[in-house]
Amino acid sequence: MTQKPIRKAVFPVGGLGTRFLPATKAMPKEMLPVVDKPLIQYAVDEAREAGIEQMIFVTGRGKSAIEDHFDISYELETTMSDRGKSLDAIESTRFAPGDVVYVRQQEAIGLGHAIWCARHIVGDEPFAIFLPDELMVDSPGCMKQMVEAYARVGGNIVCGYEVPADQTDKYGIITPGKVDGPLVEVTGLVEKPPRGTAPSNLMIPGRYILQPEVMRVLEGQARGAGNEIQLTDAMAQMIGTQPFHAYKFGGRRFDCGDKAGFITANIALALDREDIGATVRAFIAEL
Ligand code: UTP
Repeated sequence: MTQKPIRKAVFPVGGLGTRFLPATKAMPKEMLPVVDKPLIQYAVDEAREAGIEQMIFVTGRGKSAIEDHFDISYELETTMSDRGKSLDAIESTRFAPGDVVYVRQQEAIGLGHAIWCARHIVGDEPFAIFLPDELMVDSPGCMKQMVEAYARVGGNIVCGYEVPADQTDKYGIITPGKVDGPLVEVTGLVEKPPRGTAPSNLMIPGRYILQPEVMRVLEGQARGAGNEIQLTDAMAQMIGTQPFHAYKFGGRRFDCGDKAGFITANIALALDREDIGATVRAFIAEL
C-alpha cells in the first residue's frame, strides 16, 4: 500500500510551562537545554531524520527565543568565522526559507486547540506532531520508526509507552485491541482517566502521525479534561472511521516538562557523551 508521505510536522509550543517556574517565566520551556541542546532542537532533529521537510511551530507570547534559535545569528556567525571557529554546532539550526513556519495560538486553551491553529498550513495531508518536552531517545529515532510503521498500515499512528499503573491518570491512555509486534490496534482513547479506571497502562508520549480529518473534528471539539480542548478527545472520535494504531516505542523516554524527568534526561544523556561522560560518571560515583 502506498501512503501519502509525511512531509510536515507540528510542534505545539504554546503551553505556559507552569511546572517549570520560575525558569519558564521569560524563557520557553522548549529552550531548556539537555546537556548542550535545547529540547526543541532534539524534536526537530528527530523530525528531519524521519524525512520531514516543513516544521510548523504553534507558538504563544514569550516564545520568540524559538524563532531566533532557528534564524541566522549574523553577529555570532561572523565573529566565529573571523576567529576561525567551526560553525558545526549550529548547523542543525539552519533551514531553507519557508521550511520553518510559525503560527500563534493566542490563548493556551489546550493541545487540541494548538494543533487546530495549524490547520491552514497543514492543509489536506497527513502530518506528524511532536511535543518537544517529551524527549525520545533511540536509534533510529522514534518518529523514523513510526513513519516506517505508517508505510505499512497507513491511517493514524500514535506512539505508545508503558507506564506504571499509578501514573496513568496523568496521560492520554490507549484501549488496546489486536497486537501485531510493536503495532497495537487502538480501540479507544481516554485523557487522564481517574485512578483505577485506565483501560491499560499504555500512554501516548507526545508523538503522533494523524490524518488531516482530525482538523475537522477539532473544529467542533468541546472542552474536556482540565477544561482544555483535548487532542485525545478528537482522536478518539476518529477511531472506527480510519485505521488507528499505537506503535510501542522500545527506546528511552524522558518527560522534560517535569523537573525530575528533566534532571534524569540530563544525567542519562551526559553519561552517553564521549566528551563529558567520564567526568559526570566519576562525580556521580563520588556522590
Ligand atoms: P503540557 O500539558 O505540558 O502543558 O502541554 P504546558 O503548559 O506546556 O506545561 P505545564 O503543565 O503548565 O508545566 C503539552 C504540550 O502541549 C502544548 C505544550 O506547549 C506542550 O508541548 N500546549 C499545551 C500548547 O501548545 N497549547 C496549549 O494550550 C496547551
